[in-house]
Amino acid sequence: MPNKTKLYKNPIGIFDSGVGGLTVANAVVRLLPKEDIIYFGDTAHLPYGDKSPDTIRRYSERITQFLIDKGCKLVVIACNSASATAYDYLVERFGQQIPIINVIDPLVEEVAKQGFREIGVIATKATIATGIYEEKLSTHPDIRVRSLATPLLVPMIEEDFFENRISHAIIKHYINRDVFRDIEAMLLCCTHYPLIRKEIEMLFHTKIKVFDNSDVVARKVQSYLTHHQLLNDEREMEHQFYVSDYTQSFEQITRLFYGEKVSLEERVL
Ligand code: DGL
Repeated sequence: MPNKTKLYKNPIGIFDSGVGGLTVANAVVRLLPKEDIIYFGDTAHLPYGDKSPDTIRRYSERITQFLIDKGCKLVVIACNSASATAYDYLVERFGQQIPIINVIDPLVEEVAKQGFREIGVIATKATIATGIYEEKLSTHPDIRVRSLATPLLVPMIEEDFFENRISHAIIKHYINRDVFRDIEAMLLCCTHYPLIRKEIEMLFHTKIKVFDNSDVVARKVQSYLTHHQLLNDEREMEHQFYVSDYTQSFEQITRLFYGEKVSLEERVL
């Protein structure tokens, strides 16, 4: 149960459809090394990127309840597809009990602040179908968003195909589309895409600015905790990683997203 008197000592909950959200968890851990985190990857139900909004909401609701029951002081939806489809629902359902941060708002704020006007977005089908980046950036009349679903990228990265001939061909197939002609910035709106960020920068000949969600979200978590006196600066961290379906191969690929292999514990919700 949550320790209400010393809430700041409680863990940060982070969830994703699978282990890709470890890119966000890793950014949080690097920025806030004294925080405990509880990570939940819904490996039994991935990918979320091809699911309907109702289904993603249902899965996200169970996971958020799990993180609340574990005593988390804050929930981070690391998954773009879940942030796009389930954030409003989760805030409505759990907003009185726990603060919830998604991966979209911090990125949108950052890009708008930097004054880019022609902005490309790549993400899963589920994220693109919501039109959420267009909607959130529509409050800035000068900004034009061009978005494209890039469904081959998640399986490609999970199979460790990046920075090679095949990944170059697949990425080019997407980013050379007319829709991205003359963009000034490209937003990589998926947990997995930080791993191909360098490659995308190179394929654009570093002429455009490339953003992903991980560091900007970690900074948002830091500023939220600071402003609400919830920052834990007292002790060394404890990190727990749960998945809804354990396999050795999921554990193996944590190395790609977290920088080191982590031990996964199965928890069926
Ligand atoms: N985590 C998902 C996202 O960021 C990508 C993987 C999936 O489709 O489940 O949208």
